[in-house]
Amino acid sequence: MRFPDNLRIRYGYAKALDRRADDQRSNELLQESIDAYYILLQRPDIKNEMFLIVGERCINRMRFRGQFAKAIAIHKQIIDRFPHEPKYRNQLAVTLLTVNRLSAAKIVLQDTLHLWPNDGFAQVHYGFVLKTKDNELNTAVKYLKSGIDSKAPGVIDGRFYFHLGDALIRLGKFEEASKVYEDGVSNQVFLSKYQRSLYNVNRLTGRPWWSKEQTSYTSFFKMLQDNWKLIKNEGMALLNKEGYFKNEAENLRDVGEWKQLELFSRGIKIKENCKKCPFTCKIIETLADAKDCRRGQVKFSVMHPGTHVWPHCGPTNCRLRSHLGLKVPPKTFIRVVNETRSWQEGQVFIFDDSFEHEVWHNGSDVRMVLIVDVWHPELSEMEKRTLPAI
Ligand code: LMR
Ligand code: MN
Repeated sequence: MRFPDNLRIRYGYAKALDRRADDQRSNELLQESIDAYYILLQRPDIKNEMFLIVGERCINRMRFRGQFAKAIAIHKQIIDRFPHEPKYRNQLAVTLLTVNRLSAAKIVLQDTLHLWPNDGFAQVHYGFVLKTKDNELNTAVKYLKSGIDSKAPGVIDGRFYFHLGDALIRLGKFEEASKVYEDGVSNQVFLSKYQRSLYNVNRLTGRPWWSKEQTSYTSFFKMLQDNWKLIKNEGMALLNKEGYFKNEAENLRDVGEWKQLELFSRGIKIKENCKKCPFTCKIIETLADAKDCRRGQVKFSVMHPGTHVWPHCGPTNCRLRSHLGLKVPPKTFIRVVNETRSWQEGQVFIFDDSFEHEVWHNGSDVRMVLIVDVWHPELSEMEKRTLPAI
């Protein structure tokens, strides 16, 4: 290079690599461009204006490559250079949340809100952390509400409406929650008031309950029903052994005990578990739309007496959820939107878990079902292959 000391030429060189990386979809070139940006950022003579442009692009490219630790270091350098701009602190918080570093994000957001108490973007993110990490419902509601009301760029986002409504429900403030969900629909963050999944294919038919015939998997469900006793035996045998069933981990329980043993998850077979119940897994493997459903799971689900699961919506409208009743004591119920049903041993029912549902176990013995998620029957083969896993 003829003018290696000239920052603009160095920048032009990095940008050219960046563009070529894009054109050729080359990770190698992308890494070269990241390195070139990075070297530029280390120059003692780089001025703030250029540092910002180069730094933001470098962070963007690093995030794309999954280099979050390095990106976070650059975020911090930008904040040092622009300490009076909340925006750059908020960008750091978002990167930290992306890699699930909730505690670190919380500290950044707290600092930001200390300096700019009315920053709506920081407010919604802080409320989100209080809700999902700390379960601090009252304070979460306060921040989520005030952040959404600010209408600042980035605050009209399904996640914030979702968790605000959920926090209100758990606080018993049903009417307020209802209003939040309606506002969410007006702002197009939800498919409907009762269908609040956030990863959707919009054209798919949505209804709370499905009959077997409404899916394209009738013979599969018949096979599950015909073999329910053997499936039950496999599940029950594992229930009596230590360590296989794991507590439900999504903080959906109000009270009680609810455990699951996963056989397939996000389209991947969990081999060590399937070894313990080969018959059940063999049946699942007869249906590609179940075993390959990258937006679902297959699992035994065991619920103990005295359990209540909060009303909730699954993450996506791309799957239907079938339950095969295996051990069903009286006084166990599931509500999906406005229709409540009970399980029957040896029978399958199907619902769309992107719709609001709630579960009660008021009986006196454990309840076990096999949950099998299947791709929504209206998805194309191409969509089933390419939709990102959830
Ligand atoms: C749910 O998917 O939330 C519940 O239906 C699970 C269960 O075990 O009943
Ligand atoms: Mn559920």
